[in-house]
This record gives sequence, C-alpha cells and structure tokens, in this order.
Amino acid sequence: MKKMNIAVIGSGGREHALCTYIAKSPRCGALHCLPGNAGIAQVATCVDIAPTDTDGIVAYCQTHDIGLVVIGPETALAANLSGALREADIPVFGPTARTALLETSKKFMKDLCLTNGIPTADYRTFNESEKAREYLKTSSYPIVIKADGLAAGKGVVIAHNLEAALATIDDMMTAGTLGSAGQTVVIEEFLEGEEVSYFVLFCPYQEPLVLTSAQDHKQVGDGDTGPNTGGMGAYSPAPVLTPELEKQVLAQIVYPLTETIQDTFFTYNGVLFLGLMLTKTGPKLLEINTRFGDPETQAILPRLNTDLVDVLYATATSTLKSLPPLSWTPEPSLCVVIAAQGYPGEPVKGSVIGNVDAAANMTGITLFHAGTRQQGNDLVAAGGRVLGVTATAATLAEAQKRAYAAVDTIHWPQGFCRRDIGWRALKNNS
Ligand code: AMP
Ligand code: GLY
Repeated sequence: MKKMNIAVIGSGGREHALCTYIAKSPRCGALHCLPGNAGIAQVATCVDIAPTDTDGIVAYCQTHDIGLVVIGPETALAANLSGALREADIPVFGPTARTALLETSKKFMKDLCLTNGIPTADYRTFNESEKAREYLKTSSYPIVIKADGLAAGKGVVIAHNLEAALATIDDMMTAGTLGSAGQTVVIEEFLEGEEVSYFVLFCPYQEPLVLTSAQDHKQVGDGDTGPNTGGMGAYSPAPVLTPELEKQVLAQIVYPLTETIQDTFFTYNGVLFLGLMLTKTGPKLLEINTRFGDPETQAILPRLNTDLVDVLYATATSTLKSLPPLSWTPEPSLCVVIAAQGYPGEPVKGSVIGNVDAAANMTGITLFHAGTRQQGNDLVAAGGRVLGVTATAATLAEAQKRAYAAVDTIHWPQGFCRRDIGWRALKNNS
C-alpha cells in the first residue's frame, strides 16, 4: 500500500483526535499539523502556520508533497483554504468557502431549508435594527436571536423577555460587539426538545454516508448553567436517537439536504455536522456545521474501527461509495473537557499541568490535548479548553466513571471541568 503525507489544519482537541487516528493508519506517511499543540507534536510535525494563512498552507503542502489535507476549524473553511488547495490539485477534506456558507451564514442556511422543505424553526431575518425591534415587540417568548455570521459560539442568545431581546439587538446590531457577524440577525422560534448532533460524510453524486450521533454539553456549569462554551464534554452515540427517530432524520433532513447541496453547489467533500432538535412534532434542523465538532470528535473517533485515512481520503476524492461499510466498537464513549479557570472568558494561561501521562495510560482512556504548550520539561496551559479525557467502556455509566477517575489523576489546580458529563443519557437510561 502506498503511503501518503498528510496535513491536518488546526490546534485543538479535535485536531489531536484526528492526528492520533491518522497516525495509526498504515497509509499515513509523514504527518504534519499546522499549527498543532504539545500533544499533537508527539505524533506529527507541528509548524506554526495559521489556519487562515491559505497561501502559506498551500506553499507548505507543495513543498512537503502532501497527498491529503484535513481541515479542522471553520475559520479555515471561511478563508477558502479548501478552494485554494483544490486549485493546487491537493486532495482536501472540507468544503470551499462558498459551500461553507451553510455554516458561516445562518440566513443562508435558513433560506436554503425554507426553499427546499427541510424542517427548521420558523424565522425572520433583519439587517435594520429598528425593524428587528418592532418585530420583537409583537413576538412571544422565549425567542432565539442569532448573529448571521461566525461568532465563535457567542452568536446565539435565547431571550426570555422583550427587555432581554432588545438588549441583544443593541449589542449585536447597534454596538456591534460581534463585528460584521452581528450586522444581520436571524430571529427564530424557540424549539423545545432534546438536542442531538448527527454526523454524515458527503461527496458529490454519491449517497451520504452516516458516521454516528453524539451529544454535547454547551454550558460551562454543572446542570447546564452559566454561559455557553465551545463544548465542555460529549458522548457518542446519543441513546435518545432511537432507530425510529434516525429513520425520520434521514428521510426528512439528511437526504433532502444532501440533494439540495448537490443541486446548489455541485460539490461538497467533507462532513456535515447537523445540530438537530428532537421536538414533539418531529426532528428539526437547528444548525449545520461544515466540519467536525469539538469535543464531539474526541468522543466519536475512539469508537471507529475502520481506518480513518481510508474514510477521509475517500471523502476528499469523491470515492465514498468504494468504502466498505464502516465498523464501530459497540462500546459507548464519553469525553470530559478540562478548561483553564476564566474560560469561556479570558483563560488563565501558563500554569503547569502534572501527571498527564499517568492518566493517559489508564485502562480505556485516550487523552487529547487542546490548549497545551511544552515549556522545557513542563506541559503548560495555553488556551481555554486545555485537555479532553475520553473513556470507552461497556456502558456509558462505566465510561463516565473511568473518565472522571482519569481526570482526578491529573494534577492541575488551575483547571476545572463539569462533573456531570453524560447526565442526560444516564438519566434517560435509569
Ligand atoms: P446554533 O449555533 O444555531 O446551534 O445554536 C446554539 C445553541 O442554541 C443550540 O445548540 C441550542 O441549544 C440553542 N438553540 C439554537 N436555536 C434554537 C431554537 N430555535 N430553539 C431552541 N434552542 C435553540
Ligand atoms: N461542540 C460544538 C461545535 O464544535 O461546534
């Protein structure tokens, strides 16, 4: 089997998970990560090139004979890294900026759903703050206000009354706290139900290939309290998505959506990460991400037995239909994120983290670095979300126990985590 050199773009836990399993593949030659982190440096050559430096990345890939690029973060997709690599004839996992509009513009995504009969929350779009205010005065509450553009997890506000809604409009549209991302807003119906993330691979003119489901914990505090974060933990699969519900998701959302993407863009090589709300009247599409989730990926990939390079390369080169059916371990997995104090605000950086290797070597544990840096002999915190501890086990309850035993082995007084990752699934089970 011919080996190929592979480059992963990004520096978080998601990218460490991608690099960990790519490095295990017999097809992987030299593995590069731009820019990477201290954990990734153990399996890949890390080079300090920013994910949005498209010219720099293309030049690096050409010099290093890269045969596959895997893009992690949405900022790189928005910068059209995928388009630039395609022009240079380098196979790439991740869509072009035009197609990534599915994630980078909420208005675009909602309009596409409406036109093509894909179930989503009812909505209106505004680019004049006065009109948004007028509309809010006649709305019922709670209501959801979303900045149209990318806002690093800060662009969605659930307003429980008119006062909070008007304050959000002032923030986003008048004060411009989210920059150009908040100049257009989508105001949408508040949906009740349980949320599920659903991951599907897609490439042109082929059937979508379902990966699996997961559930995330967006809020910083136990019991889903406090401000939203990028995600404080995840588990996979999501037991709430029964086979019956999954059939509905495929028929009502996944197939119409992939057909629409095919007809609209003619091209898409990557993963669709669908945020779904399971409502009383059926599943509805809350959002589309055009990349893998973080920390969902850290929960999903330890369950995949199929060679990850085969999967990513087939998606990038539009040959998904030649892949044999994917193989998964039946064991569920659960990932606990450990963050630096201050997160999701300004995190405290530079504190030393101890005993990480001991935790990583525990039974059923895979440890992923997110915001870490090596400083001499010390591993130090260098970001908001710093580590992800994933456990797999026969049951989700056992995986949770294992994950927290490993978390408690790590010595890092300046870090914190939620102690209830998995609570929803465990509550439903018991
Ligand atoms: P999004 O970035 O669109 O997924 O929104 C972030 C989070 O806000 C989601 O994960 C939901 O928890 C919540 N959310 C978004 N839209 C709605 C909605 N229409 N109804 C209820 N919750 C929502
Ligand atoms: N964990 C949510 C995301 O990656 O967007």
